[in-house]
Amino acid sequence: MARTLRLEFAGFDTPAQGVLILFCEEGLKLGGAARKVLAPTGDLINRAADADGFKGKNGSSLEIIAPSGLDVPRVVLVGVGKGRDLKDQDFAKLGGIAMSKIPGAAKVATVLVDFPGRGLSPERVAGIGLGVELRAYAFERYKTRRKEDEEQAREVKVTILTEGVGAVRKAFASRAAVAGGVLIARDLVNEPANVLYPEELARRAGHLKRLGVSVEILDPAQMKKLGMNALLGVGQGSEHESRTVIMRWNGGKRGAAPVAFVGKGVCFDTGGISIKPASGMEDMKGDMAGAACVIGLMHALAARKARVNAVGAIGLVENMPSGTAQRPGDIVTTMSGQTIEIINTDAEGRLVLADLLHYVNKRFNPKIMIDLATLTGAIIVALGQEYAGLFSNDEKLAERLIEAGRESGERVWRMPLGPEYDKMIDSKFADMKNTGGRHAGAITAAQLLLRFVDKTPWAHLDIAGTGMGSPQTDINRSWGSGFGVRLLNEFVARYYEK
Ligand code: BES
Ligand code: MN
Ligand code: ZN
Repeated sequence: MARTLRLEFAGFDTPAQGVLILFCEEGLKLGGAARKVLAPTGDLINRAADADGFKGKNGSSLEIIAPSGLDVPRVVLVGVGKGRDLKDQDFAKLGGIAMSKIPGAAKVATVLVDFPGRGLSPERVAGIGLGVELRAYAFERYKTRRKEDEEQAREVKVTILTEGVGAVRKAFASRAAVAGGVLIARDLVNEPANVLYPEELARRAGHLKRLGVSVEILDPAQMKKLGMNALLGVGQGSEHESRTVIMRWNGGKRGAAPVAFVGKGVCFDTGGISIKPASGMEDMKGDMAGAACVIGLMHALAARKARVNAVGAIGLVENMPSGTAQRPGDIVTTMSGQTIEIINTDAEGRLVLADLLHYVNKRFNPKIMIDLATLTGAIIVALGQEYAGLFSNDEKLAERLIEAGRESGERVWRMPLGPEYDKMIDSKFADMKNTGGRHAGAITAAQLLLRFVDKTPWAHLDIAGTGMGSPQTDINRSWGSGFGVRLLNEFVARYYEK
């Protein structure tokens, strides 16, 4: 039932069709092409703006229904504030706002992108297109009915009118790849756990083969042979078998060491024997947001033929209580040989990642390793839903991620690591325990991961606050945000494709 979007680009000479959206700077300033299109309305725009107190402030808008002189049902002016204050990353937001002004019942819309003064770079116009794509997404697969008054078109065709169409289309191609990756990640996070269990999530990762990504799926027997007992221990209480998926995109120099991305894929986290309270437990269908991001990222890299060698690895399990479930007090021997005492079966993500990080590091000897995980409630307490927690053993890598966060708008905030925190996970009976007590919960979780990465430059992104239950923004209305795809795509493009 979701409305599908068909996004196209055309030149200013193409007549506007359907809902017409234009941008205007503070002081009601329009570009030349915009003024020309609106000319037949005479002083209508000025009068409407006066009547509504609309001045073009950033984020404000003015809507005029059935404008006389124009053959369109509705004109919308979207204010952008002062043009010179706009940064590259603001254009996706403007695209999102534009998309939001298209009524659900509309089948056709035109977004005229013309700012006063110097023309926009093709990248900025393409950024608007990205925002349109991201805002148009809604997860409605399981809505079989709709309220009668909520008429909605099955498809909406949005045409962006711009200067330099050729260059804009070219710049947009890579944005479309990234948007595709974000939407895949959102879909996966939104899917319920009765549909999306480890085997099914592995199967969906297999779709990446169409883009030339190699996809390898390990079953429990293969993981057992490798010694991934920490990962397998988490899944042992479930009727659904665990899986590990290795995805490889080789767009870089033949034989060059890859960059590696590792995702927590807990398809449902009940907490296990240390069971979670009932209230809000349904959200734990999103505990595979890290894995979803890795799949979305691999899609983005392959779809835009990124000149990089990248490995994506995801550990897929379901954390259930049952007669075969892991118990508090159990001790598991990880693939690295280190042992972990299970204090709380709800601290399961780090167990999955411990084996996966070790495996990826040993097998691929990557340049860098980044894991993404909805790992702790504690990171939500610390940072809320605005920043993901960033932990790293490498200054340069941390700086690069922070910069990619600023550029993409998917921001990360660095948290500390250190021997004082590391001590907190020492165990009486094993090399370490899987919880560090009430204090510094997000940090002690990261300290455990650090024990499995050796000397490899590594970063951990705790996306518990940003990957799901996401705040409504101009470019996202979905519960699962797809957080991390744009961040890591930017990170790869900036630093690993030269
Ligand atoms: N998946 C949860 C973390 C989580 C909580 C993600 C809320 C998204 C929203 C994780 O497996 C977990 O249960 N962590 C525990 C660790 C504790 C038992 C040491 C937590 O944060 O409470
Ligand atoms: Mn848990
Ligand atoms: Zn979890």
